[in-house]
Amino acid sequence: MIGQAERIIELSKLNTGSGSAGKRNIISFTSGKGGTGKTVLSVNTAYALSKQGKKVLLVDLDSNLSNINILLNVYAENTIANFLEGKKLFSDLIYEHDSNLHVIFGDSGNTEYPKPRIDLIKFIFVQISKIQNDYDFVIIDSTAGIDEDVLTILKNSDLNIIVTTTEPTAVMDAYVVLKFLKKNNILSSSKILVNKCFDNSDADSAEENLKQASIHFLKQEVSFLGKVGFDTDVNKSIINQNILVKENPDNKTSKQIYSLSAQLEKLIQVVNNSQSAKVTFSK
Ligand SMILES: Nc1ncnc2c1ncn2[C@@H]1O[C@H](COP(=O)(O)OP(=O)(O)OP(=O)(O)O)[C@@H](O)[C@H]1O
Ligand SMILES: [Mg+2]
Repeated sequence: MIGQAERIIELSKLNTGSGSAGKRNIISFTSGKGGTGKTVLSVNTAYALSKQGKKVLLVDLDSNLSNINILLNVYAENTIANFLEGKKLFSDLIYEHDSNLHVIFGDSGNTEYPKPRIDLIKFIFVQISKIQNDYDFVIIDSTAGIDEDVLTILKNSDLNIIVTTTEPTAVMDAYVVLKFLKKNNILSSSKILVNKCFDNSDADSAEENLKQASIHFLKQEVSFLGKVGFDTDVNKSIINQNILVKENPDNKTSKQIYSLSAQLEKLIQVVNNSQSAKVTFSK
């Protein structure tokens, strides 16, 4: 199977006309610790942006443990694995949830198919770059942890959102991600989002700990995107396979996600307008 994918990569090298001419609109949700809320936040943010009139492509890059299809309650007919196997064109993967929200599904539980390697991830980004100008935002649901695969995703994104919870283990793991990003010169394109906050005090203390650690050890101030409260309606939305911001737009978490989406719009504008950002975020 990989042999086929490698042949596709060779073909792509012959295609010199690829790549996005301009837009810098790829936002990845990543984390140190697993289970911090990347998937639920990327799906809800993508939906919120689409309802604000933006055209959004949501891509599930959580290799082999993808579950955006479950959250959206749809059968993923075509997945990234089908493309890498040479069975489908990249354009065949696009599922139109509605006119403003398109989705590319990952693969789940396919034990026969190996985890995409760095060169395959790069190849996926070449494909994304060919269509990203058709969208206002490309939202990527990434994987937890720090390895070369994750790094490839983060390096190819214009803005990285590191999702942590307030638990000390998650905060520590988020710090490890910051260290990893700093080492790879992409810390400045990253922002922290604190999810599942019980109250202002645990959110503030997680934020303060990360701030102090990054100033002290990384000599760079880390930037925060905001916080999202712990809300059992989030769990219920997953159990019911609903999109929270769609089914319950007046819920407090939905409102936080809508305000997060508005911030992302501004941030992406800054990224696109700033000449220095273009240098900092070069792929
Ligand atoms: N704000 C929240 N309030 C309450 N529960 C939440 C919140 N955000 C996420 N959760 C719960 O946390 C769990 C993990 O969420 P999710 O699958 O989005 O995390 P993840 O970071 O994508 O996990 P993985 O690392 O396995 O991909 C789910 O059960 C979800 O309901
Ligand atoms: Mg996930």
